[in-house]
Amino acid sequence: MATPSKKARLNNIDQYRDQVISHPLARGIELAEVQTFLASLPQNRYPGYAYHNRGVLSCVQPRGGVPLFDDQLLLTKKLNEAGADFIPLTIDSCTRQGQYDTAAQLLQRSEAEGKNYLNGYPLVNHGYELTRELYQGIDKPVSLRHGTPDARLLVEIAIASGITEIEGGGVCYCVPYSEGFPLDRCLLYWQYVDRICALYSTEDRPIHRESFGPLSATLVPPAIAVTIQIIEALLAAEQGVISFAVSFGQTGSLIQDVATAKVLKELTQHYLDKFGFNEVRHYLVYHQWMGQFPPQREKAAALISGSTLIANMICADKIVVKTVDEALGVPDMETNAEAVATVKYLLHTFRCAEPITSPLIESESALIESEVREILDAIFDMPGDVFWGSVYSAFQQGYLDIPFSPHADNANKLITMRDKNGSIRILDRGNVPISDENLEMEKQLLASKGGKLDKSYRDLLSDINMMV
Ligand code: 5AD
Repeated sequence: MATPSKKARLNNIDQYRDQVISHPLARGIELAEVQTFLASLPQNRYPGYAYHNRGVLSCVQPRGGVPLFDDQLLLTKKLNEAGADFIPLTIDSCTRQGQYDTAAQLLQRSEAEGKNYLNGYPLVNHGYELTRELYQGIDKPVSLRHGTPDARLLVEIAIASGITEIEGGGVCYCVPYSEGFPLDRCLLYWQYVDRICALYSTEDRPIHRESFGPLSATLVPPAIAVTIQIIEALLAAEQGVISFAVSFGQTGSLIQDVATAKVLKELTQHYLDKFGFNEVRHYLVYHQWMGQFPPQREKAAALISGSTLIANMICADKIVVKTVDEALGVPDMETNAEAVATVKYLLHTFRCAEPITSPLIESESALIESEVREILDAIFDMPGDVFWGSVYSAFQQGYLDIPFSPHADNANKLITMRDKNGSIRILDRGNVPISDENLEMEKQLLASKGGKLDKSYRDLLSDINMMV
């Protein structure tokens, strides 16, 4: 049995760090210099302050990354002026895969032709000294958005650049993203990331971590999303992280979104306390629809409006926004800034000081909570001596199973469908250790709301593409 514990902390991180930061693209990062630089930043550059000062309105965070420095500077200014509360730095996919030489070639080509050959900002190639200049005069936190399984060098450079929020995790940036990246290695690499975030944190200026809850963004039942968020919060807490956001993606069901938010918040607190991590401050982040978007801009705008109202109903600490061009590709600067301004307007207009509830939401919450507890208890009970090892085994045995994940270690035995409310129901639990009683309840809900228990391939596609 291996429960989360402070004993799992990587205490000999210096020896690993030397190897990572000896990379030429780290450009001689020095711990003491970075610590002094971080201490010199205004407090508002830290997510904890943004969350503390947000009042009743959720913070707004767009995504955004372009290859050229000057364009990124312009984008940063534009998003800042539009009212973004968190400034994004989205990293290109070559850098995410550790292909820094290809990123360098494509960056050079982008510079030469004035056309973007990378789908984000190649931070490792630009380096920390130049990147610091992007954020001079910015009085808000900057967030690293990526999807990198081995993010050790990237995160070293991000923190040295003054980026105080690091998205990702050993499960959420591996299982839904790649077929072949070994999960055990990814979990260890993210222990490193969590540890250096903790190393650079001070009590009043913590480097903040955020997990990516939408996962495959395809019919993921709330119980799985919530369980994985809690696991990643615990893994980060083991390494000394004291500021952490759990997140989830819009499910497509109003009831299930509100219920998921409630359970996610309450159980994150419960399990952090249970394992002695009372010092961790945690926050709730909501992602606007992460599935396929309608190509029509007016429908996309309606979808964005709808999910903004849900962010208000759940009193999210932050909402991550989409744009009306989502179906078409990476948005241009203007469209991105417009999305921020629209979402800010809606949040303000329909503000809501307390999460809403109803008997239906309460019964949905009770079901999700019961399933999450069952899955987590089974994982805590697994044989072994380290918690991350149990998480790895949980995937191999199918205790954790993410629908539509391409990863070789994912069981893909869990089958879900939507009921009449659009709620995601578990039809076949595969090896996920939820009780017969809860499975029966899932099936009853699917049947009683008119859902067929033997949906066709066509039904499944329409469940997946429900917003299009
Ligand atoms: N700039 C802005 N948005 C981006 N996304 C991915 N890369 C970028 C970028 N460089 C968005 C996609 C999708 C989400 C996962 O990230 O449009 O909404």
